[in-house]
Amino acid sequence: MSLAIVTGGAGFIGSTLVRSLVADGYHVRVIDNLTSGKRDNLAGLDQVDLCVADLRSPGAFEKFLEPGAPVYHLAAIPSVPRSISDPVPSHESNINATFNLLQACVARKTGRVVYAASSSAYGDTEVLPKTERMRPQPLSPYAMQKLAGEYYCSVFSHCYGLETVSLRFFNVFGPRQDPTSPYSGVLSIFLNCLIDRKAPTIFGDGEQSRDFTFVEDVAALCMKASLAPAATVTGNVYNAGNGHSYTLNQTWRMLCEMRGLDIQPEYGPPRAGDVKDSLADTQAAVRDLGHNPKFTFEEGLRLTLDWYQQSRGE
Ligand code: UD1
Repeated sequence: MSLAIVTGGAGFIGSTLVRSLVADGYHVRVIDNLTSGKRDNLAGLDQVDLCVADLRSPGAFEKFLEPGAPVYHLAAIPSVPRSISDPVPSHESNINATFNLLQACVARKTGRVVYAASSSAYGDTEVLPKTERMRPQPLSPYAMQKLAGEYYCSVFSHCYGLETVSLRFFNVFGPRQDPTSPYSGVLSIFLNCLIDRKAPTIFGDGEQSRDFTFVEDVAALCMKASLAPAATVTGNVYNAGNGHSYTLNQTWRMLCEMRGLDIQPEYGPPRAGDVKDSLADTQAAVRDLGHNPKFTFEEGLRLTLDWYQQSRGE
């Protein structure tokens, strides 16, 4: 049985990827420090070893890497506002830890590293959709940190021959996304407000738009990125988006309609570091990686809503 390694595999996106890898016949080794990841996210999976280790300490995890095994690097401290209010931990976890991991992958001669980069690297572009050829213009420490990680991946490909592919995730949502923190992704918050029949707070006028991407489509793309021809993809960066965008106002209206409710959102001040509009050009990922998102936004929302209801025992 082939081995795959997933950093951050106990987290929301990581654990979905782990499930997809297991379904594809892999044995998966998860490296996670369990700061935001949860053991529960991996419940019921036999083909998985959880190695609790922190990538900020190089000596702590190198032994868990194996020659030739693909590595999916999803461990990170997410959130734009968290990186603004408390930049040191996210700097250490998103840049230093990524550097440590890449060095260890070279030393241990692992297989290809697929890196979870972020659409936030684009910042505000004059033109939509956002293509990989555009100059990055990060607007927050988080965006800058994720961008530094992708540059490091490309540099490690060029200088040390480590195969890497960076995927710029576009606002991933789905089951297991934690809705309980002030830094939680907006859809996890909206969906739980909907279940509670409560008004969400929208930061700004709600006309900002996002290319919300269902987590299973992102997991599928990670696996494709790991297997795509090295000569075509090594060292490259690709958008991992759905290719459609919705404003927050539209999204909340859609959710209310799904439930036959009419709840007006509350509005608060715009959030520092917020990007105005986000929409992925997916052509390069389709061409080079075979990206083929299977879930429409509405399908993803319904599946996620069902999951939250079940997990809340409703
Ligand atoms: C950014 C990245 C995304 C990355 C994520 C990691 C962009 C375009 N996207 O997401 O790829 O995965 O960081 O954390 O940069 N909002 C509300 N009310 C709330 C919560 C949020 O109105 O209660 C608003 C935010 O101000 C923002 C939008 O919803 O305009 C989305 O916020 P969030 O889900 O936190 O993600 P981004 O910061 O867009």
